[in-house]
Amino acid sequence: MSLDVVILAAGRGTRMYSSLPKVLHRIAGKPLLGHVIDTARQLAPRQLTVVYGFGGEAVLQEFAGQNDLAWALQAEQLGTGHALAQALPHVQGDTTLMLYGDVPLTRLTTLKALLAAVDGGKLGILTDVLDDATGYGRIVRNAEGRVTHIVEQKDATPEEAAIREMNTGILALPTAKLAGWLAELKNDNAQGEYYATDLIALAVRDGIEIATVHPQDHWEAEGVNNKLQLATLERIHQHNQAVALMKAGITLRDLSRFDLRGILTHGMDVSIDVNCVFEGEVTLGNNVQIGANCVLKNVMIADNAIIHPFCHLEDASVGAGSLIGPYARLRPGAELADGVHIGNFVEVKKASVGSGSKVNHLSYIGDATIGSGSNIGAGTITCNYDGVNKFRTVIGNDVFVGSNNCLVAPVTLGDGATTGAGSVISKDAPAGQLTVARAKQVTLANWQRPVKQDK
Ligand code: UD1
Ligand code: MG
Repeated sequence: MSLDVVILAAGRGTRMYSSLPKVLHRIAGKPLLGHVIDTARQLAPRQLTVVYGFGGEAVLQEFAGQNDLAWALQAEQLGTGHALAQALPHVQGDTTLMLYGDVPLTRLTTLKALLAAVDGGKLGILTDVLDDATGYGRIVRNAEGRVTHIVEQKDATPEEAAIREMNTGILALPTAKLAGWLAELKNDNAQGEYYATDLIALAVRDGIEIATVHPQDHWEAEGVNNKLQLATLERIHQHNQAVALMKAGITLRDLSRFDLRGILTHGMDVSIDVNCVFEGEVTLGNNVQIGANCVLKNVMIADNAIIHPFCHLEDASVGAGSLIGPYARLRPGAELADGVHIGNFVEVKKASVGSGSKVNHLSYIGDATIGSGSNIGAGTITCNYDGVNKFRTVIGNDVFVGSNNCLVAPVTLGDGATTGAGSVISKDAPAGQLTVARAKQVTLANWQRPVKQDK
């Protein structure tokens, strides 16, 4: 069976009260439409088409470069049937699966079950039975229990409105029939729209069998119309991700206080304390511990490293057995070898730190190379910027930088160099020697403290 997928995403999303098109609002850092596209891709369709309209430019831009997608413009939102018709030039297989760009969490297995149910040219509807189906289209069945049609809430009689089986909106349709049926749709209904749901009655008339399938969970068919629904689905999605990670062996101290907005790859015996946020691609080795309240974006952390609480790491790598934080910031280009210690209130940017080196307190290390076994004293700053250009600081192996040094780049501290506390190092410090660059201490022998004068 060859499959085409059409995702309807032209709606305005008025109730989001946002200048952003609804389908670009994000769950776990990914646009709603991106979730639907990613799930649809896993069905390996012949063609995947998105019907877009409101905020079209922004939608196209967000997915620029994803060349497997076809785009169909619906300039005016005249209803779901009209939207589907815009995609007709792109559907040529046996079955067309219609999805909504604002229903992000449908399981792949559910869609597969729906497609399996329409094998042989049936029409499939993903329906669900709700305690309160207010607002949704209702599935109307005859005395034998066969589906006859769908009636929209606004067109329903009180008896029809009492039906609890609702239309999720997801349909699997026989492609060969679509063009003819869509041409027959009328908009003489309460909303003055061309309803995709009217395809069901046309199929029944033409003797096409109707199959219905339920999702495993209600949230699979829930859409986003406002910020509250967006937040609700975000929590459900985060819970699902947390459960999957825990089943794969990660220890989350509290699965309701964990946020993953990307991909987390991990080894064994990883533990993550509460309120951490993981973004982009994060890789954690074996025995890695992440303390509470950390944000990690695009980072690699090797085995046995410990990230203490309140750290912010972005585009950085941390070597095996390293200790980071609390309150450390690793900015893009921070590359730490094994056994490195980065302590509190230390910022590292575009700098490599060799194995076993320590920067433990209150420092800024930017545009620098530090060898192995070096110790950078508290309060040390690499002065990398003259207000116009940036320069590098090179620190060798086994260097001891005293507390509160200013290393004025470009500058090199040779292997085994020592610098005195409070030094402003503006020239290279030679290997193996002590360099001190600060005013000499003097004591004035006969100095008297001033005394209060009478007025
Ligand atoms: C639709 C169904 C209803 C179902 C409900 C499930 C119809 C007529 N009704 O109703 O049976 O219970 O979904 O949520 O299909 N869209 C377009 N262009 C349009 C209109 C809509 O692209 O002209 C898109 C929207 O962006 C949205 C989806 O289609 O993603 C559904 O549209 P919406 O207006 O929310 O449909 P409902 O009235 O909720
Ligand atoms: Mg509507």
